[in-house]
Amino acid sequence: MNEPVLRMRGITKAFPGVRALDAVDLVLHAGRVTALIGENGAGKSTLVKIMTGLFRPDGGEILIDGGPVVFRDAAAAESLGITAIHQETVLFDELTVAENVYLGHAPRTRLGLVDWGAMNRGADALLRSLDAPFGPRTRLKDLSIGQRHLVAVARALSIEARVVVMDEPTAALSQKETEELFDIVERLKAEGRAILFISHKFEEVFRIADDYAVFRDGRSVGAGRLRDVDQAEIVRLMVGRPVDDVFPKAPVTPGEVVLEVLDYAHPTEFDGISLALRRGEILGLYGLVGAGRSEFCQSLFGLTRPSRGRVRIEGRETAIGSPGDAIAAGLVYVPEERGRHGAVLAMPVFENMTLASLGAVSRKGFLKSALEFGLARRYGERLDLRAASLSQPVGTLSGGNQQKVVIGKWLATRPRIIVLDEPTKGIDIGSKAAVHAFIGELAAQGLAVVMVSSELPEILGMSDRVAVFREGRLGGTFERAGLSAEALVRAATGNLEAA
Ligand SMILES: Nc1ncnc2c1ncn2[C@@H]1O[C@H](COP(=O)(O)OP(=O)(O)OP(=O)(O)O)[C@@H](O)[C@H]1O
Ligand SMILES: [Mg+2]
Repeated sequence: MNEPVLRMRGITKAFPGVRALDAVDLVLHAGRVTALIGENGAGKSTLVKIMTGLFRPDGGEILIDGGPVVFRDAAAAESLGITAIHQETVLFDELTVAENVYLGHAPRTRLGLVDWGAMNRGADALLRSLDAPFGPRTRLKDLSIGQRHLVAVARALSIEARVVVMDEPTAALSQKETEELFDIVERLKAEGRAILFISHKFEEVFRIADDYAVFRDGRSVGAGRLRDVDQAEIVRLMVGRPVDDVFPKAPVTPGEVVLEVLDYAHPTEFDGISLALRRGEILGLYGLVGAGRSEFCQSLFGLTRPSRGRVRIEGRETAIGSPGDAIAAGLVYVPEERGRHGAVLAMPVFENMTLASLGAVSRKGFLKSALEFGLARRYGERLDLRAASLSQPVGTLSGGNQQKVVIGKWLATRPRIIVLDEPTKGIDIGSKAAVHAFIGELAAQGLAVVMVSSELPEILGMSDRVAVFREGRLGGTFERAGLSAEALVRAATGNLEAA
């Protein structure tokens, strides 16, 4: 086989209390996509940060075309042709698209000044080649996550990157945006670039990648050609045991109605939504991304105003004008975009976990750290949280583990109704079953759950009933007994051929 473009050998990296990487290896070949697979906290993003110059390794070597290199910083890695779309965006909100594309390598005039005209023209050409629906002068903050990925790709093209790293690029994308991204991956591949692709979604991995590398607890445990393995083999490597990707909810006898929504509408996002939820019940909200499910939930939680409709909680007409009103009424919402709304990254895990339930961890008005720790430990265990210590800042947890903290924080408030928006997005296949089991158990104790999910196995495994959103309206509701993937997809798309 040809010399790989990039070879990482024996890479080690420790943080206080945790060896994130223990002598891992990785090779990337020109014109091929390598999937890096592993549980939450396995060390994937840490390796990405090392190969893009954001972290220095404690040991090991990096070779490009067989020659050793050392990256002092991200600019050094980029100048050698390595660039990334990170799990958390590292682009700049206040700058324009063109500035983000050319930051650090802007075209210059003969006098050494930034050549703005050339820069905007260059960015424009790159954006056109990507079919981007925005121009070079747009500010980054006005773009969706999918559009930001396009900016990162344009940047990769502008530095003529030989290695493009994508760390969970599809986590926040709609199906359509995901398809568009995959077209771009194919193009980058055809141009002979090496691509590292990280995702917890196996369909994506098997569809887009040629090679795989699996990490477990910071070690390399397997690598090879994807065509030689199946999903079960990959899961066995990453988790060390077989797992079901969904923990089916135990049947419960639903109690009295706790939430009733009547003819609920929003000026632009949804209309005529009526539904009811009982104690102990999990109501799945299925639909295509953009069908109005999240907007509906946000409105229920008081983040936006409905234009019409009524909400009854435990039989009482309830006016929810703010999240505070919702929480007081016993309803909480765990948003999909947990990074921005969910956790205080600089604060330790245990404080984040207890942030929303201060009453439960205080005595006579004083916070008791023993109570805080106890509560955080309980919820952490149930959600399969992997942290070196409960005192570590949430920002130093892996992406998937940050999400578990946010879910734990809201469950710990012991709400009567919880609305979970894509609860297991970014959570690995092993932890998913733990999260599902815990939610199921809380439901059995009387919690009423609304669960937005775009993953059919999750919807089918967990829901007692499913309401399907289609273009802002209810496209049908289904009882658990009559649930089928075909029926849900048909109701979501309105397309009789779809399934
Ligand atoms: N800045 C940091 N300080 C301390 N520990 C860190 C830091 N960054 C990462 N870690 C730890 O290193 C380990 C590996 O984390 P990493 O983010 O690489 O995991 P990951 O494989 O990307 O997981 P996920 O699938 O959840 O994104 C984790 O234990 C994490 O808590
Ligand atoms: Mg990660």
